[in-house]
Amino acid sequence: MIKIIIIATLCVFGYAKTVTFKDCGSVGGTINSVTVDPCDAEPCVLHHGTNISMGINFAAKENTTTAKTVVHGIIGGVPVPFPVPADCCANHNLECPVVAGTTVQYNNYVYCSPDYPKIRLAVKWEVQDDNGKDLFCFIVPVSIAD
Ligand SMILES: *[C@@H]1O[C@H](CO)[C@@H](O)[C@H](O)[C@H]1NC(C)=O
Ligand SMILES: *[C@@H]1O[C@H](CO)[C@@H](O)[C@H](O)[C@H]1NC(C)=O
Repeated sequence: MIKIIIIATLCVFGYAKTVTFKDCGSVGGTINSVTVDPCDAEPCVLHHGTNISMGINFAAKENTTTAKTVVHGIIGGVPVPFPVPADCCANHNLECPVVAGTTVQYNNYVYCSPDYPKIRLAVKWEVQDDNGKDLFCFIVPVSIAD
């Protein structure tokens, strides 16, 4: 009985996973890890009507007072802008200013709308510095399901 409850709970809440990513041109930082929550296995499945947390740990190589999130879904090779609040400092996605030589934790989430088609795609996630250069940029494959 207890075992069934535990399994049911895990199915509802899922696990966080440190995923394999492709760096797509990080300039102002070096990514240490990318974590997706929930994600049971790669590619991560994003379920309709849920929030998916993203955690990025990176080593900052430069100072920046501003940081801006830019997200694209790459569908059939075409990058489609994905609306997310851009201002990382105002949204407390990371601590501002970012200081060179420190390790920085960036947290954010995306809502998987029930309107999204059930497809596989690549998510391209960038955070840009004062000069519009990438503090970090990574790509992870995902699929969307009910
Ligand atoms: C997703 O997160 C936002 C902000 O924290 C919250 O308002 C919303 O209720 C969440 N939605 C779900 C389905 O958990
Ligand atoms: C970055 O900021 C720190 C702390 O404010 C400062 O000591 C350092 O000189 C700055 N480095 C550069 C490259 O601007």
